[in-house]
Amino acid sequence: MKYFIDISNLSKERLISLLNASIQNKNKSISKEKLNKVVGLFFEKNSTRTRLSFELAINQLGSSSIFISSKDSHFGQGKESLEDTSKTFALYLDAVVMRVNNHKTLSSFVENSSIPIINGLSDLSHPCQTLAGLMTLIEEKGSLENLNLVWLGPITNVAHSWIEAYKLKLGFNLNIFCPEAYSIKYQNKLQSYDLQTNLDNIVAHKIDHDILNSADAILTDTWKSMGEEINDNDLHQLDDFCVTEALFNKAKKDCIFMHCLPASRGQEVEEKVIDGPNSRIWIEAKNRLFVQQQLLKELL
Ligand code: CP
Ligand code: NVA
Repeated sequence: MKYFIDISNLSKERLISLLNASIQNKNKSISKEKLNKVVGLFFEKNSTRTRLSFELAINQLGSSSIFISSKDSHFGQGKESLEDTSKTFALYLDAVVMRVNNHKTLSSFVENSSIPIINGLSDLSHPCQTLAGLMTLIEEKGSLENLNLVWLGPITNVAHSWIEAYKLKLGFNLNIFCPEAYSIKYQNKLQSYDLQTNLDNIVAHKIDHDILNSADAILTDTWKSMGEEINDNDLHQLDDFCVTEALFNKAKKDCIFMHCLPASRGQEVEEKVIDGPNSRIWIEAKNRLFVQQQLLKELL
């Protein structure tokens, strides 16, 4: 594997072994490995967790990182082509983590670059987040087998990566509840990337309470992803899909709550859920470090 752009780049076996190794990374003392590599972090959008966890993981692998904000680069200013920028990166760096506005930027970098490219979030997907989420589920529930996952709200980049993980048949069930307009929006996005996926048994536009009652984990994401314009009317369509305390209490007693963060308390989730005893948001955020350590070990 010379790049990690999407969960679908991995086979089921490869993904499971990556997750198992990530769990071992967590249980080991800080790695003494000295890889002596240089990894670029090229970001077109803001980040707290992704930047920090990658910088730390790189450091812990005895390597160094260089942060490149698109605002300060010629590519970001429109003064240099993507091809020239990617060739330049390959002169100095051993790999690059990229957070991009347009998923096609990642594909073009993969085509033009001789170094590994890692997706640190695009408008379409956020595979590193889903790796951390899968790791959290295995730790919390023992395995992914027969788990019922419920996603509420827009089918965001994070949700897309969960759909890809589901399609690898890892053993869990996935049900997404969101307004119809939002699933159309998602299908349109897929089309714009020449992708299509069958969502018939995954997406529903009304919450099915039998499915909710059997949820082992409820997941959501911000209603306003970075770079998205959403008017108040569109936002209000999501009101019924907020993870309220009343809704969360309908799930299994040991159901956990997960969220990639950043979160808007009081919008997509109530404070009592996200800050309540069943929330695993901080474990999930911490696990970004261990999955990314593993990813870097495998790619560098
Ligand atoms: N979850 C996540 O990727 O967080 P940041 O936007 O802070 O990196
Ligand atoms: N869907 C969110 C995820 C942030 C980690 C966004 O793209 O802003």
